[in-house]
Amino acid sequence: MRTIDDLGDLRGRRVLVRSDLNVPLDGTTITDDGRIRASVPTIQRLREAGARVVVCAHLGRPKGAPEARYSLAPVAERLSQLLGAPVAVASDTVGDDAQQRVAALADGDVVLLENLRFEAGETSKDDAERGAFAAQLAALADAYVSDGFGVVHRKQASVYDVAKLLPHAAGGLVLAEVEVLQRLTQSPARPYAVVLGGSKVSDKLGVIDNLLGLADQILVGGGMVFTFLAAQGHEVGKSLLEADQLDTVRGYLERAQQQGVEIVLPTDVVAATAFAADAEHDVVPADQIPADRLGLDIGPDSGAAFAAKLAGAATVFWNGPMGVFELEPYSHGTRAVAQALVDADAFSVVGGGDSAAAVRTLGFDEAGFGHISTGGGASLEYLEGRTLPGLTVLD
Ligand code: 3PG
Repeated sequence: MRTIDDLGDLRGRRVLVRSDLNVPLDGTTITDDGRIRASVPTIQRLREAGARVVVCAHLGRPKGAPEARYSLAPVAERLSQLLGAPVAVASDTVGDDAQQRVAALADGDVVLLENLRFEAGETSKDDAERGAFAAQLAALADAYVSDGFGVVHRKQASVYDVAKLLPHAAGGLVLAEVEVLQRLTQSPARPYAVVLGGSKVSDKLGVIDNLLGLADQILVGGGMVFTFLAAQGHEVGKSLLEADQLDTVRGYLERAQQQGVEIVLPTDVVAATAFAADAEHDVVPADQIPADRLGLDIGPDSGAAFAAKLAGAATVFWNGPMGVFELEPYSHGTRAVAQALVDADAFSVVGGGDSAAAVRTLGFDEAGFGHISTGGGASLEYLEGRTLPGLTVLD
């Protein structure tokens, strides 16, 4: 992949940077700024090179028209604080205001375009519509830098089509993320343990499929574990269950046995009467979940057992919380896994999305982990062995 160095002298040139600034918001308050912080080094580097930096990004999933709650204005404010420089935010994405603000940039200045997904062309499945929007983006710049690793699995105008219209390069964040993922897929130090959580097993089918040929151990927690427990014939009460995935999961359990991959499931779970922090809850054996309860976390024995397994690993990849970590009574399993990764003498990778947010929300120091990815879906699709459009277009 071409790098920023390959773009030559950038002084006075307008550089369009695609960042992933899709951060969780509570109203207009950013609850985890990890992705904004991760985008700073590339933007700073371009500023220092004298470029006129035009940052573009999406927030949430608006449907091709402006919606105030998805404005990038709070993100611009945080980016400005982190850069220690003003960041103007355009009131549109490629319209008059964006064009005027880009034209007014001096060398080293930064403007953030309004949410890309306020324009239907960004996510259109129609190549011509996407291409037309990409051309409007390209008209705002002289070069393009792809640095939004979290979106490289999307074939979208600002990720894919625009790279075909401008001299382009991968930013430092994309290069760093890809290097880590290559290490996980091509030459992982063994034993290689993978911890999978999150609510749905159906979101993880591809990755489990591929990891069965790669990992030595797969530890399963989160809402998806109840489909595994049910596949083994256990009652799961009112817990999340994807009945249509039971056969697939049984197939995985059989394949794991044939291929010598150890699948580790919890032996105890925290079962509550309702999905609420103040609901009555107890630790129960994983094979005896009462009919009127739902499992919201792995139990303490399982947390300790998972930690013991991880202590012996040389490589760990973790994606998906072990329970509803946002609610204190159900946060202990996720905390146990995070602590085990910090303590392990392994190359540990936290795969984006909810698990990265969990690590930070629970107060762990990011420096304790080998790598915290900014990409949730993107990391998973890479590990599934899929082709990511936003990466192939840069090759
Ligand atoms: C993410 O949050 O994983 C990325 O920002 C991509 O967002 P999307 O799933 O809405 O495309």
